[in-house]
Amino acid sequence: MKYVVSGGNKLFGKLKVDSAKNAILPIIAATIMCDEDCVIEDIPLYLDVIEMGLILEKLGKKVEVSNGNMIISGALSSTSVIMAETKTLRSSIFMMGSILSKYRKAIFTYPGGCDIGKRPIDIHLAGLEKLGIKFSFANDLIYSDASKIQGSVVELSFPSVGATENIMMASTLIDGEITVIKNAAREPEIVELARFINSMGGKVFGAGYETIVIYGVKKLYGTTFKCIGDRIAAGTYLIAGAMCGGKIELEGIDPNFLLPLIVFLRNSGCNIDLFSDKITLENFSRLKSCEKIETSIYPGFPTDLQSPMLVMQTISKGTSIIHETVFEARFKVVTELLKMGAKINVSERYATVVGVTKLKPAEVACPDLRGGAGLVLAGLVAKGKTVIDEIFHVERGYYNLDKNLRSLGAIIDKVD
Ligand code: UD1
Repeated sequence: MKYVVSGGNKLFGKLKVDSAKNAILPIIAATIMCDEDCVIEDIPLYLDVIEMGLILEKLGKKVEVSNGNMIISGALSSTSVIMAETKTLRSSIFMMGSILSKYRKAIFTYPGGCDIGKRPIDIHLAGLEKLGIKFSFANDLIYSDASKIQGSVVELSFPSVGATENIMMASTLIDGEITVIKNAAREPEIVELARFINSMGGKVFGAGYETIVIYGVKKLYGTTFKCIGDRIAAGTYLIAGAMCGGKIELEGIDPNFLLPLIVFLRNSGCNIDLFSDKITLENFSRLKSCEKIETSIYPGFPTDLQSPMLVMQTISKGTSIIHETVFEARFKVVTELLKMGAKINVSERYATVVGVTKLKPAEVACPDLRGGAGLVLAGLVAKGKTVIDEIFHVERGYYNLDKNLRSLGAIIDKVD
């Protein structure tokens, strides 16, 4: 599938932000720890979410989608997470913590996912080993044994989001034992996972801070849960509004999760109003460049918004230097942007962007999820027809991106 974008329109109107992909994925994994009905409300069917559901079904869970909610129930019939889907879906790694917490033995493949860097799982494994879990490796598979699992103090060498989530889940069902995660990731999606586990009867304290304490419980119970809005999707739409010009309103997003982006957008010349669950953005002038952007762990500027922000710099007045500190291979989109007339020079983890007055349409292909979203933004401002191939990358993490942009006045179609 491809997007065909006819750029040049300003954007006007309101959008409701969908539930956060990066919160939903570990939450789906966490349902493995509970046999009763877990209802996740308002669940957008990102391709990654569909794949997670499919993996759970293959492992024996019952997964239904009804009235926009996902209902997951039943016990696993297998703990061998070695089906083809796990090769493409990085988030399958989250099942390690939840399966080992409840079933104590499992086999995994090395997880796949976006090609944005090496993406090792050494921090996950080191943390789980600290809980007494034993791993052995053969034929590209990870064999794990948690029969001697116990609470412990786990200090992460880097505040990895996935490792924090995995260790949080692994510790949840160690009845009567206490686990402390130090140097934990603080992303809002971590807080969501803790809220979800606690809504099932778990006892996770301190999520959102550097130290998380988990009191192990014996059993979890069914729950009904609704996630926060997707801060990365919201950020992408704000950048779209800034680049195209016009006035947009996003509902269902807490502005506190996007403060570094909001500061940049305001400094670039956008008028932004913040409400408890809503953001409005207005811009009718040429943007000013951001000069220096550095990605970092939360609450810093998110690496997942780096590509959209890089694309914004391509048409902003002035020169910007973007430093990608989290994933080493997140500038692949640059090759495609050069075809559209952007002026960008990449040297290792730095991209220098000299703003041009306009981008030109071209035929391009998405290199990864967020880079693909960046190409859509570039297409929205390039006057003429831009064709964007390989959009499955984008659909892994944006739900109805084309439909949402059309509702704001953009001309974008999805074609075979
Ligand atoms: C999650 C998000 C992803 C986001 C990232 C950083 C989900 C589903 N995905 O990914 O969208 O870009 O956080 O905010 O929530 N690392 C290691 N060893 C490990 C684990 C990570 O070296 O065992 C490195 C990674 O290669 C990367 C950095 O740590 O360079 C950050 O990774 P991590 O925080 O784990 O990101 P993910 O959980 O994979």
